[in-house]
Amino acid sequence: MILTLTPNPCVDKTIFLPELKVGTFMRSERYTCIPGGKGTNVSRAVKALGRATKAMVIVGGHSGAHVVEMIEQQDGVECIPVRVASPTRTITTVLEETIHRQTAFFEPGSKITPGEVQHIVETFRQAVQGAKVVTFNGTVPDPILNGLYRQLIPIAKDAGAITILDSHGASFALGLEAAPYMIKPNVAETEELVGFRLDTMEAKWKAVTHFHGRGVELVVLSLGKDGALVSRGAERFHITPPAIEEVNPVGSGDALVAGFAIGLAENMPLTEMATLGVAAGTANAMSWDIGHFTREEVDAVRAQILVQSA
Ligand SMILES: Nc1ncnc2c1ncn2[C@@H]1O[C@H](COP(=O)(O)OP(=O)(O)OP(=O)(O)O)[C@@H](O)[C@H]1O
Ligand SMILES: [Mg+2]
Repeated sequence: MILTLTPNPCVDKTIFLPELKVGTFMRSERYTCIPGGKGTNVSRAVKALGRATKAMVIVGGHSGAHVVEMIEQQDGVECIPVRVASPTRTITTVLEETIHRQTAFFEPGSKITPGEVQHIVETFRQAVQGAKVVTFNGTVPDPILNGLYRQLIPIAKDAGAITILDSHGASFALGLEAAPYMIKPNVAETEELVGFRLDTMEAKWKAVTHFHGRGVELVVLSLGKDGALVSRGAERFHITPPAIEEVNPVGSGDALVAGFAIGLAENMPLTEMATLGVAAGTANAMSWDIGHFTREEVDAVRAQILVQSA
């Protein structure tokens, strides 16, 4: 089983309009509502690939209950909620269909008390039992949780799970101190952490080496349409997907994480799991919905992937 952790989920609402007119009252005929959050995206992708997953989320209020209901009923994924007093945020995106432009409005995340932090840790301690792989995804809702991943990664390791960290900013920097087995930053997240530009291949590989120096065994630096750099031990390669018509790449990194999580849970050779991950990321970018690709779509992309040793 693959356990995902999303500390900062949301009700993710998209309102469709022909064109946004700022300063007016606009009525929409169509909207969608999904459980938002990086770990919930990973769980949805793992499920799309036909494997077992559970999604742990920190939620509060009616909006939080709505997130749990959508994970269970819309996504069909088993949810492990940790309830806090402060309500879960809603993110509202306006999609202008004529020009395909998105404008998003983010509410602040839940405030978390010290007592709730304890409750989160205890719930995680239970949830991790029986998990082969645990993925730690996205940001945290409150600065009190900046060290959450650093605290939970050793608990997951002690329980015998393989750990994957995909975050940015303070929670990524602090989580790295616990030496997760795998990380999957993109270029911007890596630049923020290492403090130098990744404008050449040499600089990108230098960043990969930096992460190994911090104790990470498997480094996956994702490069959007250019695929990813993958490095573990003596194995280092650049993996490239076919050119596609990009519809919505949001959540492609999460789909990539899902492929690696499956590969690690099933002890696949590194090139095989990387191929699965990149194909899932690319399949995700080919449609509007996040993590809703089919296995056939992933297999079609998988056949066209290029692996070049570095
Ligand atoms: N336009 C694209 N064409 C082909 N493949 C893509 C494209 N965009 C993303 N991908 C695939 O998805 C993978 C992850 O994408 P990316 O590097 O954009 O992740 P990310 O920035 O972490 O995204 P997110 O956090 O929104 O999930 C890439 O390695 C690639 O395989
Ligand atoms: Mg990402």
